[in-house]
Amino acid sequence: MNLGMNPNGELVQSAVNAPNVIEIPEGFLNEAVRFREMMMMYTCAIREVKTKLEVLNDDLATKNQRNPIQMIKSRVKKPASIIEKLKRRGYPLTIQSIVENLDDVAGVRVICSFLDDIYTVAEMLARQDDVKVLMVKDYIRCPKVNGYRSYHMIIEIPVYFSDRKQNIRVEVQIRTIAMDFWASLDHQMKYKKNLDDSGEISEELRECAETIAQTDMRMLNIRKKIEERESPDMLLQFDKD
Ligand code: GTP
Ligand code: MG
Repeated sequence: MNLGMNPNGELVQSAVNAPNVIEIPEGFLNEAVRFREMMMMYTCAIREVKTKLEVLNDDLATKNQRNPIQMIKSRVKKPASIIEKLKRRGYPLTIQSIVENLDDVAGVRVICSFLDDIYTVAEMLARQDDVKVLMVKDYIRCPKVNGYRSYHMIIEIPVYFSDRKQNIRVEVQIRTIAMDFWASLDHQMKYKKNLDDSGEISEELRECAETIAQTDMRMLNIRKKIEERESPDMLLQFDKD
C-alpha cells in the first residue's frame, strides 16, 4: 500500500488515481522518521547534560552559599541551519553525515556568575566518568580577534534508550553574564554587518569586550576580598541562627 498526503497535509493511503493526493516516495518517509528520531536523541542528550549541570549547581550552592550557575539555555539546531552547515563544509546531506560531522546539533549554554565558576563547572563536568571530552576551545584565555570570549567544550555522553545505548555529542558553551551580554548583542548585530576586523566599528566592539573582561576580573576580585573578610566566627553565627 502506498502512502500519500492530502491537501490538508495529512498522511493517507493513496489508492491509484486518488484525486488530490500527492504520492510520497517510501524512502523519503523513512528518512523523515529517522530524522525525527535523531532530533529526539539530541533532545534527550541535552536533558542529561542539563541535569548534570543542575546537580553541580545545587551541590556547589549548598557548599558555598551562592549559585555558580545563573542560567542554562539550550537548543537543538534547526533543520535549516543543519543543512546550511553541511553544505558550507561540503558534507553529504544525510542523517549519518549529520551525526558524524556536526558537533553542535545539541547545544547547551551555561551562564556563570564569576570567571572562576566557569573553570570549576567545566572541570567538574569533564571529571565525570560518563563524560568524554572531545574538544576544548578556551576563548577566554585566547579571545577571538573580534573580542569574543567563552569556554567551549564538545563532550560525548551515553544516553540509554529503550533498546540501546547511544553516545551523543553535545556542544557546551560556558561564559559569564557579562560575556553573554556581549555575545548576545554581537550575534544580533551580525545580521546587519559585514565588518572587516580592522574597521572602526569592529575596533569599538573589541574595546567593549575588553572593558567587559576587565569588569569580570574586578568583580571576581571584589568577591574574593569579601570572602577573605568573612571570619569563621561569622559563619558559626550563621549556623546558630
Ligand atoms: P560554527 O560553525 O559557528 O559552529 O563555528 P565553529 O564550528 O568554528 O566553532 P566555534 O567554537 O568557533 O563557535 C561555535 C559557536 O560559538 C557559534 O555557533 C556561536 O554560538 C559562538 N560564537 C563563536 N564565535 C562567536 C562570535 O564571534 N560572536 C558570537 N556572538 N558568538 C560566537
Ligand atoms: Mg555552531
